[in-house]
Amino acid sequence: MTELQVRRVRFDFAGDDVPFVWHPTRPAFAMQCNLISFFAPGFEKFIVDATREAIPLIRDRAVVDEATAYLRQEAQHSAAHASHIRALARRWPGLRQTANEVTASFDRLTATNPLAWRLGYTAVVEATFTPYFKVFLDHEDKLFAPGDERVASLFLWHFVEEIEHRSSALRVYDAVHDSYPYRVKTIAGVIRHIDEILHIITSGFRTHVPEADGGDLAALIPDGLSPRALRAAQRAARDLAGPGQATYAGVPRRELLAMIVGLVRSQAPHHDPTFEDLPPFADHWFERFDAEPRSAARWYTVGVGGRGEP
Ligand SMILES: [Fe+2]
Ligand SMILES: [Fe+2]
Repeated sequence: MTELQVRRVRFDFAGDDVPFVWHPTRPAFAMQCNLISFFAPGFEKFIVDATREAIPLIRDRAVVDEATAYLRQEAQHSAAHASHIRALARRWPGLRQTANEVTASFDRLTATNPLAWRLGYTAVVEATFTPYFKVFLDHEDKLFAPGDERVASLFLWHFVEEIEHRSSALRVYDAVHDSYPYRVKTIAGVIRHIDEILHIITSGFRTHVPEADGGDLAALIPDGLSPRALRAAQRAARDLAGPGQATYAGVPRRELLAMIVGLVRSQAPHHDPTFEDLPPFADHWFERFDAEPRSAARWYTVGVGGRGEP
């Protein structure tokens, strides 16, 4: 029996008042999360397609159970991010095209790569999420609490569930194609593909969201993974974000160093995400969800522990 829980959370994205810059004082973080929203449906569909194909090949019943729950969690994430995107596209309709381009790019990967490669891609990326999201969740008071509650709640839910199923993608990969060298070889393709996705999303944001609504802030995310693109995003952070407004402003250097070490270690042989250093916020979130499920969609106003409480 897997311990993964599939939670259906209905976020309130029915209106057309969801801001593009959803965090008033952390524009770079707001853009990073918007990027994740546009990345998510395509990536998660890619995961669901590959994992569905993998399940009949897995002999270990416990891994099959975990894979089934994990793909159902990913399907929930995908649907929630699609509703966030729909809300944004009601105000800036061109963003629909950006979302479609991302999904088409992932569908191309599905159509042109063998299952082992697709499971390798997924395991590589999913392994980075625990060290990557831990820093965000450890600084939830600064990075989420001051933002639009609907959007902040969406990302809190998604990030804690990524931490909850942190080992699943690797387990599925190992069950089907237990080769570390092959998985490492996929990293070059992952980087090439993320470079393409970054370009699609940042140029979509710039094209379809007017400067007055924050479209120019897309420059805070690199439009690819080349050194030129990374330098341009750093320059934009100096020009467009005020003092103390960078994503990691106020995060101690040792925590950033631990994140970088964690990202590198996530790709090492014998790395098992089960034993990762986890953010205490994740446990707090799961306990609060069990006590008051409606708090998931309105983290700061529904149920116990409202805004300002730990
Ligand atoms: Fe996800
Ligand atoms: Fe995931």
